[in-house]
Amino acid sequence: MRYGHFDDDHREYVITRPDTPLPWINYLGSDEYFGIISNTAGGYSFVRDARLRRLTRYRYNNAPLDLGGRYLYLRDDDTGDYWSPSWQPTQGDLEEYECRHGLGYTTIASQRAGIRAETCYFVPIGETLEVWRVRLTNERPGPARVSLFGTVEFCLWDAQDDATNFQRNYSVGEVEVEDGVIYHTTEYRERRNHFAYFACSDASAGFDTSRDAFLGPYRGWDRPIAVERGAVSGSIAHGWQPMGAHQVRLELGPGETRDIIFVLGYAENPADAKFDPPGSGRVDKRRVRPVIASHLEPTVVESALVALREAWAERLGAFQVESGNVHLDRMVNTWNAYQCMVTFNLSRSASSFESGIGRGMGFRDSNQDLLGFVHMVPGRARERILDIAATQLPTGGAYHQYQPLTKRGNDAVGSGFNDDPAWLVLAVTAYARETGDLAILDEPVPYDNAPGSERPLEDHLRRAIDYTLERLGPHGLPLIGRADWNDCLNLNCFSDTPGESFQTTQNRDGGVAESVFIAGLFVLAANEMAELVDHRGDASEGARLREAAADMVASVDAHGWDGDWFRRAYDYFGEPIGSAGNDEGQIFIEPQGMCVMAGIGLADGRAVRALAAVRDRLATPHGIVLVQPAFSGYQLRLGEITSYPPGYKENAGIFCHTNPWLMIAEVLADNPLGALDYYLRINPSVREAISEVHRCEPYVYAQMIAGRDAPTHGEAKNSWLTGTAAWNYVAATQWLVGIRPELDGLRIDPRVATGGAKLRVTRRFRGATYRIVVHGSTEPGAGPARVTRLVVNGTPVEGNVAPLPSGPDVEIEVHAYPGSPAAIPA
Ligand code: BGC
Ligand code: NOJ
Repeated sequence: MRYGHFDDDHREYVITRPDTPLPWINYLGSDEYFGIISNTAGGYSFVRDARLRRLTRYRYNNAPLDLGGRYLYLRDDDTGDYWSPSWQPTQGDLEEYECRHGLGYTTIASQRAGIRAETCYFVPIGETLEVWRVRLTNERPGPARVSLFGTVEFCLWDAQDDATNFQRNYSVGEVEVEDGVIYHTTEYRERRNHFAYFACSDASAGFDTSRDAFLGPYRGWDRPIAVERGAVSGSIAHGWQPMGAHQVRLELGPGETRDIIFVLGYAENPADAKFDPPGSGRVDKRRVRPVIASHLEPTVVESALVALREAWAERLGAFQVESGNVHLDRMVNTWNAYQCMVTFNLSRSASSFESGIGRGMGFRDSNQDLLGFVHMVPGRARERILDIAATQLPTGGAYHQYQPLTKRGNDAVGSGFNDDPAWLVLAVTAYARETGDLAILDEPVPYDNAPGSERPLEDHLRRAIDYTLERLGPHGLPLIGRADWNDCLNLNCFSDTPGESFQTTQNRDGGVAESVFIAGLFVLAANEMAELVDHRGDASEGARLREAAADMVASVDAHGWDGDWFRRAYDYFGEPIGSAGNDEGQIFIEPQGMCVMAGIGLADGRAVRALAAVRDRLATPHGIVLVQPAFSGYQLRLGEITSYPPGYKENAGIFCHTNPWLMIAEVLADNPLGALDYYLRINPSVREAISEVHRCEPYVYAQMIAGRDAPTHGEAKNSWLTGTAAWNYVAATQWLVGIRPELDGLRIDPRVATGGAKLRVTRRFRGATYRIVVHGSTEPGAGPARVTRLVVNGTPVEGNVAPLPSGPDVEIEVHAYPGSPAAIPA
């Protein structure tokens, strides 16, 4: 069952009924000012940091769902009937409803009683404000007298404190109202030099700033007293809950359309020039007034919207494919790329599942996210790499997270995850292949942000590699530390205290738990690094890295292979995990993916066997589960993974982040059709048809789909902010479509096409636009393709790497035989 449809031409997802299984959200903003917005206008806004600069209030875990938002009310002033044009919060019947989530904007349109409302919400590029453009049309045969109310509930900045510290907060809230603009000024009198504002292009009918006055005692957002009676009261909040409400009274002739614009924004003043006049205690508004005034102008709003659309078209133009498969095309061309940019902007901070108060930027997460956006915003990827590397510890290890506001590492969510450093290597090598900017390796970067500790980035990578080599266990495999990629495999933890965080608790000393996954990751990273240093002419370091990788492969050969698949780990006591000899947790997905990606077992048939075991034991129609058999109960020696009910999260959920590793592994093992099959199982657009089962948004990946052991098999959770976005993007673009940036050129290795039609790709690379046309056999299912002929700008080229560009345009003709590029069902 569907709740809407894709509009591929406009790059929008169109939701056609408001009561989606869960709030289906979108993101506003791309620089400093951000918001989440649901299909019923729920959500909130913040500047830079979702916890510390929260502008509006939101209630997670509420009933009804998704309360707190950018709420409008329409009131028929002749009958007193009122409703929300975005359905929530009144939930009154709408005769028509349509929400269009687009790239950086959301439009919600509806009609009731002959009054049509279409509201477009977006953040103009470069501004710290959001615009709501409300377009009202009277579809009645006669005139209509209506009131429109626009409302926001201000958050007292720190979202955590706002939700808990009522004894203080009920006394500190303040506002100012000037020329019809509502200014939220809580704590401005003391140490803050920032404030929020809420303005309206037609504020003549008045305002409220006290929530109590607007809603009325014991009333909710579903029936505000001010809307019911048709009049706001000009209230001024003193403490309690400051809010902003503007009322607009309109007389619309038959067929008449009117635009009303609301602007919610954020502004800062210099710390020593906060007040006007100085010492008055009144906010100095001289800088912000012109910004507000211009964004209440329809022409300014329209051109800002056009600029936003153009910016996204330009960004996504870095990679466009026509494969003939609509699900692959729309995800790669629009939604998956967009989701990668959202993870770049938001990391894991704010979604329907991340409350915005918990998590900063993860070291491991941010490095992996980069793989999905580096080609779209290479300059910002460079900055990101340098920020991350500056938090690295002198040991080569890493803080597990850093704060976006301060860019400082912290231990708040734990430390000693021994996989962390290797991801930095993979991020830098990906960046180098994309851009050719090897000079980044010479960039001086401090350790732990300590002035004076600067060393070239290359030194950081070397220490990252050495960090693993200096921490090998009894089987010559990397010590796991607190955990590796799987945060919940806590082999040194032994927590028996209810509620204690597995991520931060003291680990038991003396453990020798080892990770086969980190071994695979290390081999991949060391070999990629070797390629880079070779390129720079440092042959001895290249040789050292390759040798270290080869030694690690030998350890995996000796102790990481279980007979039919790769083992997962060795526990604190040196016993194997992820082995046929275990009762539960016999096979894990992560080492199968990572070891094969690192090339282990490809030459001797073990890779193929491991992949067969995955297909046999882990694959379900909804995707590949993380482990089998699931753990039935808590086990002290394994930690958080066994805390989850079977089938959820790391305990045998379909942890979608890992699935693309298997797609890549299948391609490497020369089974692209198998890879494509896995790709389509978790592709959100494919799953759109079963939205009542999947329940999360059908246009973005979710972290997890409940596994076969779960009663709700197939149900997704934790949509949007997940490493799933980047890895699926990499699997689809680089391994299925097969266009891979390399240091010396663009590898053209298409493994899927349409069984007849041509495969076309446009790829921006090193300042040029490559236009690639792949001709394959017309026989569907003719088997995996290999490039047999490559013609670049009319000149045949040996092999399948198109050289670096010599001009702005590169035309490539490719013939991929024998067989066609694997045929994919349209
Ligand atoms: C989740 C993991 C996550 C970890 C750290 C755990 O509760 O299951 O997926 O990585 O928390 O935030
Ligand atoms: C989510 C975390 O953000 C990520 O870092 C981790 O690798 C996965 N969960 C798996 O535990």
